[in-house]
Amino acid sequence: MTNSAGPLSVHPDRNLAMELVRATEAAAIRAYPFIGRGDKNGADGAAVDAMRAFLNTVDFAGTIVIGEGEKDDAPMLFNGESVGTGNGPACDIAVDPIDGTSLTSAGRQNAISVIAASDRGTMLDASSVFYMDKLVAGPEGVGVLDIRQSIAENIRALAKAKGKQVGEILVAVLDRPRHEGIIQEIRDAGAGTRLLLDGDVAGGINAAREEARIDMCIGIGGSPEGIVTACAIKALGGFIQGRLAPKDDDEAQGGIDAGLKMDYVYEANELVNSDNTFFVATGVTDGALVGGVRREGPIIRTDSIIMRSKSGTIRRVQADYLAERWA
Ligand code: FBP
Repeated sequence: MTNSAGPLSVHPDRNLAMELVRATEAAAIRAYPFIGRGDKNGADGAAVDAMRAFLNTVDFAGTIVIGEGEKDDAPMLFNGESVGTGNGPACDIAVDPIDGTSLTSAGRQNAISVIAASDRGTMLDASSVFYMDKLVAGPEGVGVLDIRQSIAENIRALAKAKGKQVGEILVAVLDRPRHEGIIQEIRDAGAGTRLLLDGDVAGGINAAREEARIDMCIGIGGSPEGIVTACAIKALGGFIQGRLAPKDDDEAQGGIDAGLKMDYVYEANELVNSDNTFFVATGVTDGALVGGVRREGPIIRTDSIIMRSKSGTIRRVQADYLAERWA
């Protein structure tokens, strides 16, 4: 069967992310007045409210697998909450209304608003263990990198796969005392570091994008951020592995009770077991992945990136909103 544009079989079905982007745009716009105001909870609350309101206008049956926390702690966008109109595809949803709440409140770069989606039942619910050790890179890392190898081995392997000198490799790591050792290992191996104040979702995605300067993103960050990143990495054809990093024995036991595996390397397909993933991010503040919200006279302008693994499309979307409607 064909139509004027060619065989119908080449037309992918609906790209849900094209609609979900309205929710990240709304969250970023509502967070905008809080940028640099020292009120991280205010910024997050405004973003959560806006994201939820817009999510609920989208035709899909979403279940939040990764949200703002358990119901008692998070009255909105909590884990297990149903979102969307209920009509349409059944999906797992991961939301991070602001990845980089501290960046936002301080007025620093790289804060984004994020939603990821995949087929129902395919996202790993890693919420009972707060931290995950991650290794993220672009397509050249597939079959070459392994989180069980030393950092120096991974750097050398990636440099070879990318046809670069080791000295040209740049590794992103969250700037935390827990990473002092691996920061030294990266430098001892002859590579450079890009130390992130916060925001390892953007850091991981930039590691997988050809046009970004970062080659690899490693280290311990949030587990939820690992699942969100995996949804984007699938669309980019990149590499990701994650290993849960419980803070203590109690947290490890809580994770085991919830069905998670400790001392275990989760591959991309185990972080999200679907080849139909969607990822949307809108910039809150300026960053390497997307630009931040800006006000230009009567217009509020947002910059977003939209990815879908099934079709492999990456879109850039700039949206102009009438500021008076958001007063
Ligand atoms: P929030 O904006 O939700 O606070 O997350 C920011 C972030 O930097 C994440 O990107 C990262 O995964 C996590 O925090 C790291 O946690 P910590 O700040 O405890 O090292």
